[in-house]
Amino acid sequence: MHVTELIRKKRDTAELQPAEIEFLINGYTAGQIPHYQMSAWLMAVVLRGMTRAELAALTSAMLHSGEVLDLSELAGPKVDKHSTGGVGDKTSLIIAPIVAAAGVFVPMVSGRGLGHTGGTLDKLESITGFNVNLSAADFRRVLSTCGCVLVGQTAEIAPADKKIYALRDVTGTVESPYLICASIMSKKMAEGIDALVLDVKTGNGAFMKSEQDAAFLAELMVETGERLGKRVVALLTDMDQPLGRAVGNSLEVAECLEIMEGNGPADLRELCLVLAAWMLYLAKRVATLEEGKTLAAEMISSGQAHEKFREIVALQGGDVGAIDDPQRLPQAQNKIDIPSPASGFVASMLCEQLGTASVLLGGGRERKEDSIDPAVGMMIHKKVGDQVTAKEPLCTIYYNSAERLERARPLIEQSYKIADAPPKKQRPLIHRVIGE
Ligand code: URA
Repeated sequence: MHVTELIRKKRDTAELQPAEIEFLINGYTAGQIPHYQMSAWLMAVVLRGMTRAELAALTSAMLHSGEVLDLSELAGPKVDKHSTGGVGDKTSLIIAPIVAAAGVFVPMVSGRGLGHTGGTLDKLESITGFNVNLSAADFRRVLSTCGCVLVGQTAEIAPADKKIYALRDVTGTVESPYLICASIMSKKMAEGIDALVLDVKTGNGAFMKSEQDAAFLAELMVETGERLGKRVVALLTDMDQPLGRAVGNSLEVAECLEIMEGNGPADLRELCLVLAAWMLYLAKRVATLEEGKTLAAEMISSGQAHEKFREIVALQGGDVGAIDDPQRLPQAQNKIDIPSPASGFVASMLCEQLGTASVLLGGGRERKEDSIDPAVGMMIHKKVGDQVTAKEPLCTIYYNSAERLERARPLIEQSYKIADAPPKKQRPLIHRVIGE
């Protein structure tokens, strides 16, 4: 096989055979195919798309480029959830302990913040000492001890994705639903899970802005997962405004603790209950989604989810004192309110811009090598549809650097649109469910 020929084939819209795709993925992962040839092939995929058979072959080749965990020694179903990324999107920290407390294993491999979105690993690391880089032995020990483990991708899991993702990041080839699907599903299928719930975000704070694009990606992922023999469902959920009220790592952990204590914002609680219900349903722990939601709510009201999170934090080396007293989480030195410029109603918010503002405050990375300030971010007081009077705070910014504040502040101020009347139609929290 000749790489040049395979690049031409994709360029000219001919269908590649599974063996040809495997040759490309294995050759690139082993360092035998140079970056420039892989980049050309990836760009051809971006422009030409893929057939479903090609996508299945690509996902399978990437999945088998590394270790596929065998968790069969753990009696019981194993389920995970993956989000395509959003602003204030912190559900993993809540639903993993809920589902584990209900008796279902959750081996969760998460990511870091990407672009304007936050990442589960960055949030967890705002708890002093929390270790997201566990050895394979510790991964199994934590999972079998408490039913849940929260870690990052290791070098052993889907190494082809790790290498290809880094190349896509610098060659303008991230934005392909086929490549995104193969990237996400190869990692998730390597976790040794039986079922997966996908939270596909749509709206101005999501990577897939339009519902049509989000639905297409969701369909690809559900179909790919099912082809690989897993139960998969995708929920298209709203990202036209931040989820909950906290944006920023330690602020978000504190908000997760509030939810696990039975308080916190209604939208975040509702989405967590629905996602957890789907996980419990796919794991066959409950017979209906209603039963799943009731069980998830019970895990919160009984304190079992909170206790489970405490257990996970302790097992992964984190400061449990911060779970009992969130004041021990990193706190910003300064805060400032952003007043509403007028009286009226919040008509819309530029959610991506709010995410970018959080990055500029230091809550995310502008460059790969940047370190994160866990304490900074914002608390959103007014959301879409809320009434507001002139000068009333729309949100509070938490910051540690005046220079960073000056860069972030205009983005936050300009992200709010205030109108005389509330929006005619509120977007639903959950747009559609695809699969099952
Ligand atoms: N997240 C991933 O893991 N991969 C992508 O390609 C995009 C988002």
